[in-house]
Amino acid sequence: MADQYQRNINYMRISITDLCNMRCLYCMPENGIQKKPHDALLSFEDIVSIVKASVPLGINKLRITGGEPLVRKGIIDLIGSLSEIEGINEIAMTTNGSLLTDMAEPLKKAGLTRFNISIDSLKEDRYREITRGGELKDVLSGIEKALSLDMKPIKLNTVMIGGYNEEELEDFAQLTYDKLIDVRFIELMPVGEASQWAKSKFVSNETLKKRLGLLHPLKGIAGSPARYYQLPGAKGKIGFINPISDHFCSECNRIRLTSDGKLKPCLHSNTEIDLLPMLRTNPDSIAEVLAAAIEAKPERHMLNQENAIYSSRNMCQIGG
Ligand code: GTP
Ligand code: 5AD
Ligand code: SF4
Repeated sequence: MADQYQRNINYMRISITDLCNMRCLYCMPENGIQKKPHDALLSFEDIVSIVKASVPLGINKLRITGGEPLVRKGIIDLIGSLSEIEGINEIAMTTNGSLLTDMAEPLKKAGLTRFNISIDSLKEDRYREITRGGELKDVLSGIEKALSLDMKPIKLNTVMIGGYNEEELEDFAQLTYDKLIDVRFIELMPVGEASQWAKSKFVSNETLKKRLGLLHPLKGIAGSPARYYQLPGAKGKIGFINPISDHFCSECNRIRLTSDGKLKPCLHSNTEIDLLPMLRTNPDSIAEVLAAAIEAKPERHMLNQENAIYSSRNMCQIGG
């Protein structure tokens, strides 16, 4: 359905856990996130009911996020149940890729269509530092597995941090020559863990684009936050996600659901609608509440204004 600004909302991002097997510097506190009790979380049955209620409103694309979605037990069964819902024609996942070597194939069999994989360094030591303990080789092997399963396109998400991994720009770009991989550079957002220091480490995508000598944008992909370019002769594309310098709010097509049952009409707003009590007492009202949340989606975020109000949740609690 269209919201009050005539944006067609067809995409629901569902965070199924706050937990993660990594601790990226800008995303997670060093000691992780306190595990929530079971009854404070949406069960997989709850998620399936919410998605079923959203289909008549026009939701046809799902993205499963975290934390790291693959650390939640039973994920393969969840994907299986979601893929049986008539009207859902794409189920994607954003993952850190570390568990994909073993899980990509069963996920594909259950109905998952593709992966976006977060990777901020191609150097083992730096990868370990940025993720506070992650192993680069696991992720690279996960990427290879996904490629071998032909789940196209594979998109890599890379957050550039000033004076840190910036120097790897060309190495990441190089990946698009060799394989059918899209590499997307994401501007660091002042959210949660990164809210205090993101501004001082910010690298604009405009700077990166100039460094790569990219001039001609490819045709835009509707509803995608990325603007795409391609290097001459490359197989994959290079995308820039500019949530700060050039926000894509006017084209935004998404709503979010957190693992504790909050519906978020906008990533960067603290407005949340708690679905858990309704699921327990009056499940028939969910469709109405979803429609009201879509209707009330804010026009845009205000992050580039003085005195901006940031979402107080960490990104791992929203799923990006
Ligand atoms: P596809 O276009 O379907 O491949 O996925 P996506 O780019 O929407 O999803 P992904 O999870 O890979 O997100 C990539 C980056 O875009 C992450 O850093 C997200 O935080 C950011 N992002 C996704 N949705 C929004 C949004 O609604 N607003 C803002 N500001 N950033 C977003
Ligand atoms: N700024 C930009 N991107 C972020 N992500 C997590 N936190 C931030 C932040 N503060 C990215 C992750 C992942 C995606 C879901 O969100 O790197 O690729
Ligand atoms: Fe985990 Fe992704 Fe957050 Fe890193 S960015 S801590 S991999 S959820």
